[in-house]
Amino acid sequence: MPLDPVELTKQIKAASDVVAVVGGYLTLRPAGPVFKCLCPFHNDSRPSLDVDPRRQRYRCWACGAHGDVITFVQHMEKVDFKEARSILATRAGIKLETEPLTPQDLARSRLFDVMKWAQGRYQDCLLNDPVAEGARKYLGERKLSGATVRQFGLGFAPLAGDWITRLAHADGVPPDTLAEVGLIAARQEGRGFYDRFRDRVMFPIRDVQARPIGFGGRIMPESPYASRSPKYYNSAETPLFSKSDVLYGLDLARQAGATVGYLAVVEGYTDVMMAHQCGVPQVVATMGTALNARHVAQIRRYVPKVVLVYDADAGGSTGVDRALELFVREDVELAVATLPDGLDPCDLLSQPGGVETFKKVLAGAVDALDFKLNALLERDASPSVEATRRVIDGILGIMATAPARPSQAAQMKQELIVTRLSHRLGVRQQTVLARLAELKDERRKKVAGEQAADRANPGAPGGVESRGTRPAAPPAAKSSPTYTLEVTLLRLLIVEPELVGLAAGRLPAEIIEHTGIRRIITEMYAAAAAGQVPDLDTMRVRLLDREDLVTAMMDQAELGHGYTERPEKLEKVLADFERLRLEAEKQAVRQSMPAAADNHLEAVDYLRRLQKSGARTAG
Ligand code: UTP
Ligand code: MN
Repeated sequence: MPLDPVELTKQIKAASDVVAVVGGYLTLRPAGPVFKCLCPFHNDSRPSLDVDPRRQRYRCWACGAHGDVITFVQHMEKVDFKEARSILATRAGIKLETEPLTPQDLARSRLFDVMKWAQGRYQDCLLNDPVAEGARKYLGERKLSGATVRQFGLGFAPLAGDWITRLAHADGVPPDTLAEVGLIAARQEGRGFYDRFRDRVMFPIRDVQARPIGFGGRIMPESPYASRSPKYYNSAETPLFSKSDVLYGLDLARQAGATVGYLAVVEGYTDVMMAHQCGVPQVVATMGTALNARHVAQIRRYVPKVVLVYDADAGGSTGVDRALELFVREDVELAVATLPDGLDPCDLLSQPGGVETFKKVLAGAVDALDFKLNALLERDASPSVEATRRVIDGILGIMATAPARPSQAAQMKQELIVTRLSHRLGVRQQTVLARLAELKDERRKKVAGEQAADRANPGAPGGVESRGTRPAAPPAAKSSPTYTLEVTLLRLLIVEPELVGLAAGRLPAEIIEHTGIRRIITEMYAAAAAGQVPDLDTMRVRLLDREDLVTAMMDQAELGHGYTERPEKLEKVLADFERLRLEAEKQAVRQSMPAAADNHLEAVDYLRRLQKSGARTAG
């Protein structure tokens, strides 16, 4: 019988003492009731991290990092909750095989298996088979060493049209799966399959855990196919492999990136490989697509900064404009490094002195905004009013589309951008801010206009969905009594999960206005209904998709630590909810009161409704 994931989590936590686990990574020294060490999550100069054995938690007093043993492993190893849990399980000698696999998990593992098999066969061919002699020579000419070729798991797909098809048959690999990942394809005429990759050097594309998820194949320069098929070819998009999301080399670069504080993004496989070979391992590549927000999100898991290595010839200025957009919109530092004319990193690195030049190029990266402003001011030291306006509008235009309630980090960045624009272009800060407000206003009107059009024509694509009979209430502001009350309820239920059943019977979750709190409380009610104790570990498994909410819950648990007389407190909170509800109801009734109460019946009815809601307040 498969073990319940909540039970499993609890069992693993019970077997993983936070002091022992943190102590396995860092040197702890006792200080009163806690242990102290240098915090690994920021550049710490004196021990700021406390590890508390009694509460099984850690907290850094300098950078604010905190959590329990599982969070610690998540951040230390840069893995998600499930991976952290499995690391701790292995450490504690707990078997995880009992965890139930979903159908999606099974489908994915089938794809992983076939990719791993294919990678092994292609690699074996490149390293050992006489048919790969030309490929070995080609890679040698490109100055890639045997060690590098092995490190990146390169392979070779021979010219014969059915090489991998026949091997699959011999090894009992299902041809349908191989076709699904795009390595072979069904013949149009008659039966059977043919190899899609012929006479190509195979670059396995791997995920962060170094598992092959796709292939890029480069045609051999002397191949009979060279003139009539593309130079590079990719395997199919699958649930494992999405070309526009992948960062080639991330599995090998992330550790080095964490050390230097950034990851550099280049264009090609060989650029990444050569950089590693030359001792510059903090380099990854996109797969022929421009850097996008999904790439940035992955990079942000490991480092705060991206250095976009930019070929002045190739990209034109569109590459920089895209980068600038990411810089403005995303929570990331983004710098642009310019290569000497006409050289890609691989070419540059292969030249005498190239490694030093490449390192200098990376060190000299300029943040995306300055890069844009430099380009403008280089062309013209005092640009025309029109050119200045265009640049300011371009940047403010991106900022105007940002969410109305930006995060603290986003807000700081906006201020920084405004200051910088004003300094460098010699425009008063108020002018820049006024223009930003104007663009935001234009944008708001435009959005409102679109929504009105959607409402008028609800069947149209992109129309606003019906949200039930009640119009959606505007979300409670952070300081509103509703929000305060919702937080208090949440905190209380987290520190006293036994009360969840009671709350579920008295307060429907739909009443909660804050979407995050509503989601947590809905899940807590569901857990209680399923007979689980909705404590933090239970909720964590239910909220796998929302790590932010799990963190928020941990914080609330911390803040609610001193709560006493909890059942009484819950009664008070529930009564307050009722009071707010009645106030809102009264407000609504009052607004619907006939303006000049000349209609006697309506006025009487109004009074009756008012009294009724008043009676309920008293009762
Ligand atoms: P290149 O066109 O320079 O490839 O693209 P190359 O193999 O170095 O070819 P030659 O020898 O200069 O003619 C550089 C990188 O861009 C990626 C590859 O990763 C390659 O290493 N690329 C290029 C693709 O992914 N797809 C393509 O269609 C082209
Ligand atoms: Mn090239």
